[in-house]
Amino acid sequence: MNTVLTTRNISKSFGSGSGAAPVDVLKGISLSVQLGEMVTIVGPSGSGKSTLMQCMSGLDAVTAGEVTIAGTDIGALDPDQAAEFRRDNIAFVFQSYNLIPAFTAFDNVALAMRMSRGTVDRTAVTSALNSVGLGEVSDRRPGQLSGGQQQRVAIARALATSPHLLFADEPTGALDSEAGSRVLRLLRDYASEGRSVVMVTHDLEAAALGDRVLVMRDGQIHGELHSPTVTDVLDAVEHARRS
Ligand SMILES: Nc1ncnc2c1ncn2[C@@H]1O[C@H](COP(=O)(O)OP(=O)(O)OP(=O)(O)O)[C@@H](O)[C@H]1O
Ligand SMILES: [Mg+2]
Repeated sequence: MNTVLTTRNISKSFGSGSGAAPVDVLKGISLSVQLGEMVTIVGPSGSGKSTLMQCMSGLDAVTAGEVTIAGTDIGALDPDQAAEFRRDNIAFVFQSYNLIPAFTAFDNVALAMRMSRGTVDRTAVTSALNSVGLGEVSDRRPGQLSGGQQQRVAIARALATSPHLLFADEPTGALDSEAGSRVLRLLRDYASEGRSVVMVTHDLEAAALGDRVLVMRDGQIHGELHSPTVTDVLDAVEHARRS
C-alpha cells in the first residue's frame, strides 16, 4: 500500500512563549494513513482531535515532530509553498464550515475548484452540490442556508477539488440522519476509490465505517481498531474513558 500521510512523534503546545504555562495538547503522536484508506478518529471533547487534524493538514504548525504528506515534509515548506502544497493535495471540512458569506453555495464550491485546479468545471460544481442533495439551493448564500445545508456545501466544496487527502472534522455534526448517511457514504466511497479520508466524529456508527479507528485520549492515541464493528468502537471508547 502507498502511504500518503505520516506523522512522527508530533506534539503541539499552546501558549508557550507568552508567559503563561504552555498547554500540551498533542503529546507525541505517530501514525500513518494509506492511499485508499478511511481513518476515523474518536475521543472525548478536548482530547485534541481538531488540533491533530489541523497539524496533520499543515494548517497549524507542530511544536515538535514531523508531518510528511506524499513524501513532502510539510514543516520544511515556507508559508507560500505550504499554501500551494495544501491547495494541490488537501481539502478540509472544518468543524465550523468556513464558507464565504458573500458567495452563493455554487460560488463557494467553484472558488475552491478554481484555487486547486486553476479552472472551474461548472458541471462538476453542480454535480458535487447534487451529490450532497443541494442542487436546489445552489444560488443561496450561507446566511440563507440552514446549518446542515452549510455543512453540506463545505463537503461538496471539499469533494469538488478531488484531493488525495480529505480531512473532515465532524462532517455530520449538523446533519439529520438521512443527510448524514448520505455524506458518510460519499466519504466512504471517496476513500474506497483510491483516495484517503481522515474523519473526526462523535458518532460511533460513523466511526465504524473507517478501515481504521483511532481512539484519542488526552493528546495521545489510546487505541487503534481495524475494521471494527460499532460495538468494538463503543467498547474502545469506554475503555479509554475508564483507564
Ligand atoms: N489555540 C488554542 N490555544 C490554547 N488552547 C487550545 C487552542 N486550541 C485548542 N486548545 C485546547 O486544546 C485542547 C484540545 O482541543 P481540540 O479542539 O483539539 O479538542 P477536540 O478533541 O477537537 O474537542 P471537540 O470534540 O470538543 O471538538 C482543548 O483543551 C483546547 O482548549
Ligand atoms: Mg474538535
